Amino acid sequence: MIRPIEWANGKVRWLDVSKIPFEEVYHESNDLERLARAIENMEVRGAPAIGVFAALSLAAIAYNINTDNIDAFLNKIMEAANRLRRTRPTAYNLFWAIDRVLNRLKKEMLESRSIAKLKEAVVDEALRILYEDIEQNKRMGRHGATIINDGDVILTHCNTGALATAGYGTALGVIRAAWEQGKRIKVIATETRPLLQGARLTVWELVKEGIPVTLITDNMVGYVLSKGLADKVLVGADRILLSGHVINKIGTYTIAVLAHRHDVPFYAVAPTSTIDPKTKVEEVVIEERDPDEVRTVLKKIPITVPNVPVMNPAFDITPPELVTGIITEKGIVYPPYNETLRKIL
Ligand code: MRU
Repeated sequence: MIRPIEWANGKVRWLDVSKIPFEEVYHESNDLERLARAIENMEVRGAPAIGVFAALSLAAIAYNINTDNIDAFLNKIMEAANRLRRTRPTAYNLFWAIDRVLNRLKKEMLESRSIAKLKEAVVDEALRILYEDIEQNKRMGRHGATIINDGDVILTHCNTGALATAGYGTALGVIRAAWEQGKRIKVIATETRPLLQGARLTVWELVKEGIPVTLITDNMVGYVLSKGLADKVLVGADRILLSGHVINKIGTYTIAVLAHRHDVPFYAVAPTSTIDPKTKVEEVVIEERDPDEVRTVLKKIPITVPNVPVMNPAFDITPPELVTGIITEKGIVYPPYNETLRKIL
């Protein structure tokens, strides 16, 4: 199994997924600015992966602080947490993971003021987040595989695989689990403009596993669903609200509307660490990224007139009435989401 993020003796080691499938490059660092930039530049991306990476980054910073002054130690950790929180605004797992590490630190301080002990606790909590993510993905895979039939064609968007998590994946984890159970499924992957996570990452992962995949451009989804060429849609999520709104890669909403129009079941697959219990739909911050991502192919090949105004929202919001079910590590929840999601949390 691909393990894109790991703890390497006081440093974070990660696979630079911005270069996949052209190059397989790993980096290691314990430098706060370098780690924050890895998230901003999407060397690490996908909601669960960002959460795990931020937790390990905090651990690497804590591990390497050289002081016996507890206030100085805590200030450095808070500074790192604040910098990491500013990297990307939409994926809830980032904030969830940082809070979880800080809460563990707070709890530990009630027992001990030893910096060595506090460092140990921070590293331990970050590693728990890493291993739990893989475990939860496998559990989601088992729950999700129950709705997949032998012979199904599944349409998916963006990349929700090992490369978007600590390993195994969310929506792609369900596909992987169904395949491991011997179900002869096929996948249709959207290319996912502008950064091509579908074409570059999902296709790369599925080809490696031998799972049949067909690549389409994003604007072919209507054609594919209207022709009955897909049985189910499975996507991941960056944030799920208690109302059942699913915030995910730009283009997800379009696919959900089309799935509804053509009676194709539409599922979101995400761990409960993606469920945001507080934010209301009107408060969700959608990340707006560099316009050059739209004016070019992968910031290399220009495809339009220089400096033409562009929009580049990285995510959109799918309302609950378009979501057939939400697959989590605790089971599959169905509408009414404001009751079922609350219960599962
Ligand atoms: O901008 P990205 O590549 O970080 O966006 C990723 C997605 O939208 C994924 O669908 C989502 O994070 C779920 S990944 C398991």
